[in-house]
Amino acid sequence: MSSHRESSAMSARIAIDYVTHTFRGQPTATLEDVDATIQAGEKIALIGRSGCGKSTLLHMLAGLMLPSQGCVRIDGRRVTKPSAKWNMMFQKPSLYPWMNVRQNAALGLVFAGQGRSANTRVDALLDLVGLGDNKDANVQQLSGGQQQRVALARSLATEPDLLLLDEPFSALDAFTRSALQDEVAHITRQRDLTLVIVTHDIEEAVAMADRVLIMSRNPGTIVGELRVDLPFPRDRNRAEFTKLREHLMNKFRDSGDAHAAKPENIGKDDASQAAA
Ligand SMILES: Nc1ncnc2c1ncn2[C@@H]1O[C@H](COP(=O)(O)OP(=O)(O)O)[C@@H](O)[C@H]1O
Ligand SMILES: [Mg+2]
Repeated sequence: MSSHRESSAMSARIAIDYVTHTFRGQPTATLEDVDATIQAGEKIALIGRSGCGKSTLLHMLAGLMLPSQGCVRIDGRRVTKPSAKWNMMFQKPSLYPWMNVRQNAALGLVFAGQGRSANTRVDALLDLVGLGDNKDANVQQLSGGQQQRVALARSLATEPDLLLLDEPFSALDAFTRSALQDEVAHITRQRDLTLVIVTHDIEEAVAMADRVLIMSRNPGTIVGELRVDLPFPRDRNRAEFTKLREHLMNKFRDSGDAHAAKPENIGKDDASQAAA
């Protein structure tokens, strides 16, 4: 029925078309005229301060929320509901404690009616994300980083064209976080997936993205972008990396935020940025 994309293509093109959103009962728009195009296979980091509307926008890309005005198109089709072709992963891995690692990773396939082939596919993915020795483990015995790896294997199992990640590593320690950043960057490139990762971690953005989109707050809209033209794997100690990180930090600071100077907002995001 639908031949809207090449069958061989394993990535999605996203058009965000003047998306504006006002939550019910709110006096002002949370998102205003968000307009952007993301190429198939492109890796995008979306950065902005807390409350600027990053999660709201990501939910719209996932079809979990509809904008009050404008629309999102993926491969030319208007997004009105979730699809198995794209997968959203959150800060908390949302695993089921009564299922082991393999069962949790297979859940997406089971929901998609592909439970029969699940075990073989999931086993290979668990090897890929470094959980080869933990397939039968109880998920509650895993570390936070390992749990997030299970969620990642589950997200990849249904072979989505597009991976949407909402601050997926922010709860992890610095070492685990940078290891997972590198792994996800590697896997999404290897599989030619389109990636949109929401973060307020400047280093994470430079480590993973081809292009960083900067969002302002009040209203939430894209106010700038930065291309990250560095080879993979990215060495965080290289001068080019450090330079781009500083450049992005400055761009971010200059990006204009009507309410940034309000006392209650000062320092709100500084801790995570200082850690970056
Ligand atoms: N369901 C909702 N109803 C009303 N306001 C909401 C709702 N969800 C989010 N908001 C508001 O929208 C703004 C953006 O939220 P969010 O997208 O979660 O920001 P971010 O992910 O950038 O921190 C915030 O001010 C938040 O309070
Ligand atoms: Mg959020």
